[in-house]
Amino acid sequence: MTDASSPRTITIACLRFNPETDTEPHFDHWDVPFSDDMSVLQGLQYIKDHLDGSLSFRWSCRMAICGSCGHMVNGVPVLSCHTFLRNYHPGTVRVEPLLHFPIVRDLVIDQTGFLDKLEAVKPYLIPATEKALANGPHPQTPAQMARYYPQSQCINCLLCYAACPQYGLDPDFTGPAALALLHRYNADSRDAG
Ligand code: FES
Repeated sequence: MTDASSPRTITIACLRFNPETDTEPHFDHWDVPFSDDMSVLQGLQYIKDHLDGSLSFRWSCRMAICGSCGHMVNGVPVLSCHTFLRNYHPGTVRVEPLLHFPIVRDLVIDQTGFLDKLEAVKPYLIPATEKALANGPHPQTPAQMARYYPQSQCINCLLCYAACPQYGLDPDFTGPAALALLHRYNADSRDAG
């Protein structure tokens, strides 16, 4: 009989790649104790803190805001801080780097191509006329803001690039997040860029 107070464990399989020693990626497996409120990111942090300190992955906010913890989890691009281990129990959680990006190491991807695309769409306000800070803000009505508000919520987590077959076929495609930001500024009444 299972003691309800004893921690359950789940197997996490992570793709590993060390460019200094590996010619091909491979998977490592660990059994991780978990509770219902543990995210996949917390599972990775448990591995790094207790089982293998060399596991490399990005994270920062732990609350689905910064966009750094995107991974493929069982083949689906997700924010790992916003995805719970309990959803995969009793199966194995397979964690891989986001699809369509070069691997720097383990789960860390090279974002250079995306950052170039982001820079190319000039994701910042270019006003028609310069206005000194001392002269106050560029006013905008709530209706004008509503025209671009949804696109302004993008956190550049790159899940959409991992999910985008066109980006997979053509890395020169500007891609969903950069196009969303292009629209966000095109639709902003304060922007003349
Ligand atoms: Fe910031 Fe997950 S750690 S979005």
